[in-house]
Amino acid sequence: MTLAEGALRRLVADDLPALSALEQAGQAYPWTPAQLEAVLVDPDSVVVGVQRDARLVGHAVLVRQPFDAELQAILVARECRRQGLADRLLGVVIETAKAWRVERLLLEVRAGNGPAVALYRRAGFNEDGRRRGYYPPRAGHPREDALLMSLPLA
Ligand SMILES: CC(C)(COP(=O)(O)OP(=O)(O)OC[C@H]1O[C@@H](n2cnc3c(N)ncnc32)[C@H](O)[C@@H]1OP(=O)(O)O)[C@@H](O)C(=O)NCCC(=O)NCCS
Repeated sequence: MTLAEGALRRLVADDLPALSALEQAGQAYPWTPAQLEAVLVDPDSVVVGVQRDARLVGHAVLVRQPFDAELQAILVARECRRQGLADRLLGVVIETAKAWRVERLLLEVRAGNGPAVALYRRAGFNEDGRRRGYYPPRAGHPREDALLMSLPLA
């Protein structure tokens, strides 16, 4: 299936190689192919992708829970950042969660991830709490807190 330039669509199992390549190139701790495949085939998960020049350059993973939905990942290829793609992915994620009629959209983010925290605050997410030292150390950085954020939908 081809995708119109800049269009967003739900990714399917056939997108696994492109999705895996995007994760490997853009994440410090990429999801494994098995983790990605699990959400691609899970009926309670939606993976939204955005493509540019026939290449997948961004995605977001949304999972439905009994009363809430959780944004488990959002990523844009390094060379395509600051062009509004995450904002568009997040817009589709929010619309999808609203269609599920869940009460809130939840997420966890590294407290030191400035771009992501700014993205979520701009979209209206509240900061609900903090898990001290939740993320393990990486590349010379100590353990890091997780910020718990939510967007009311109901
Ligand atoms: C976080 C991430 C998804 C943002 O993607 P992006 O496409 O560059 O974001 P957008 O261009 O849509 O930016 C939307 C808003 O987010 C905020 N933002 C995004 N990048 C930012 C940065 N580097 N510094 C400050 N604010 C930033 C701004 O408010 C921006 O609005 P503006 O451009 O009008 O100021 C991207 O940096 C990324 O993939 N990071 C690595 C993966 C990651 O950390 N994901 C989050 C895990 S919880």
